[in-house]
Amino acid sequence: MTHAKDHFAKWLSDAHALELQSIALLKSQIARIENYPDLREKMIEHLANSEGHEKALRGLMERFPGAQSLIKDVAGRLSATAQGLTGAFSADEIVRTCMNAYVFAHEEVARYKVLLAAADELGDSTAVAVCERILSEEKAMADWLELYLDGVTRLYLMRDERDLLAKR
Ligand SMILES: [Fe+2]
Repeated sequence: MTHAKDHFAKWLSDAHALELQSIALLKSQIARIENYPDLREKMIEHLANSEGHEKALRGLMERFPGAQSLIKDVAGRLSATAQGLTGAFSADEIVRTCMNAYVFAHEEVARYKVLLAAADELGDSTAVAVCERILSEEKAMADWLELYLDGVTRLYLMRDERDLLAKR
């Protein structure tokens, strides 16, 4: 299973880099939201979860010598900050933020599904347990955002129509 192990180590590194990106992105988004407290609260909760994911992955990486995400971490953090601000100058910032978060959550779901299958193939029960736990939290975030997208769009349009604070 040498090849499978190598693949797992690589996917693990990628997932870890993505978590670092997620943490940076969430922090920049949380700092900007002003008038959507339920979203802000959910993001704060997911930030805490993501910090847990990052730590758990780091723990797994120590057992897989091929796993490391040093260079990508830096690039990931920079691009996360950029992404977090992508919508900052648009009138519909809050809607864009939610769409970005929804896409991001699904990318994470996809990555943990792959990691979980690979961990299972390797017969690594510790890695399976870690991936299952993270996957369920990512799915919960994706599902929450799926419901929220409808409401936030309507709320944004209503506020915008009445010239209330709608943007973020
Ligand atoms: Fe995560």
